[in-house]
Amino acid sequence: MAKITAGVGTSHVPAIGAAVDHGKTAEPYWEPLFSGYEKARQWLAEAKPDVAIIVFNDHASAFSLEVIPTFALGVGAQFQPADEGYGPRRVPPVEGHPELAWHLAESLILDEFDMTIVNEMPVDHGLTVPLSIMCGQPERWPFKVIPLCVNVIQYPPPTGSRCYQLGKAIAAAVESFAEDLNVVVFGTGGMSHQLQGERAGLINEEFDRDFLDGLTADPDALAQIPHVDYIRRAGSEGVELVMWMVMRGALNADAKEVYRHYHVPASNTAAGLIVLENG
Ligand code: DHB
Ligand code: FE
Repeated sequence: MAKITAGVGTSHVPAIGAAVDHGKTAEPYWEPLFSGYEKARQWLAEAKPDVAIIVFNDHASAFSLEVIPTFALGVGAQFQPADEGYGPRRVPPVEGHPELAWHLAESLILDEFDMTIVNEMPVDHGLTVPLSIMCGQPERWPFKVIPLCVNVIQYPPPTGSRCYQLGKAIAAAVESFAEDLNVVVFGTGGMSHQLQGERAGLINEEFDRDFLDGLTADPDALAQIPHVDYIRRAGSEGVELVMWMVMRGALNADAKEVYRHYHVPASNTAAGLIVLENG
């Protein structure tokens, strides 16, 4: 039987990917951020997942304002890095897991989550930067990836509560897949940041630390945070944190925190990382 063993929450700042790609991770600006990633990388190398379900958002790379799926599930065998304006990142393509992905599509849709099914989509920094954070620069990513893309850039995004419920439905779907697979779920984006308007540059460390605490201790309460509170307290792009609620919903209620890292700033963002394990 497939089993979700752990969850990872991490920011996905594009400049973090550029620092990796251009060999800058030891520079004074980046060193404190990357040294905090070491333990999480070690943990992942030991956890050896077969598949990661990576909950991320597309930043108008695969989708534009022409088509805005709320939840899009990648069922393809491979996903290429997107060209975000400077050519695609020179990272390996992402290998999918079509069998588990189609099982998820069927289970989730019959469970009344109306997923958009995606055979082809380039994946942008929302997905590839978390892979770089957790895996460094391997020749091939060490596990298969099922991309689950959430709209958080065009109002209205799904609520944190809906994302949390989706996570629970993902847990049920994975558990009903016959093959023995070690599955990890990534929630990406956040933490507090605002890239636009008068409050551009906003960081709210108190909100972020409360969110990290609540993720382990009281996710039911976090799931009730309305969009307007994310935006007021964590900035307009802070609403990306609803994607961490999918990850949390996919874990057991008593999942344990095994590691966290928090560093300000990474580009315009408060960079957070948390690893939670199912008991
Ligand atoms: C930044 C953060 C993001 O989440 C993003 O999608 C783009 C840029 C930043 O901090 O620069
Ligand atoms: Fe983003």
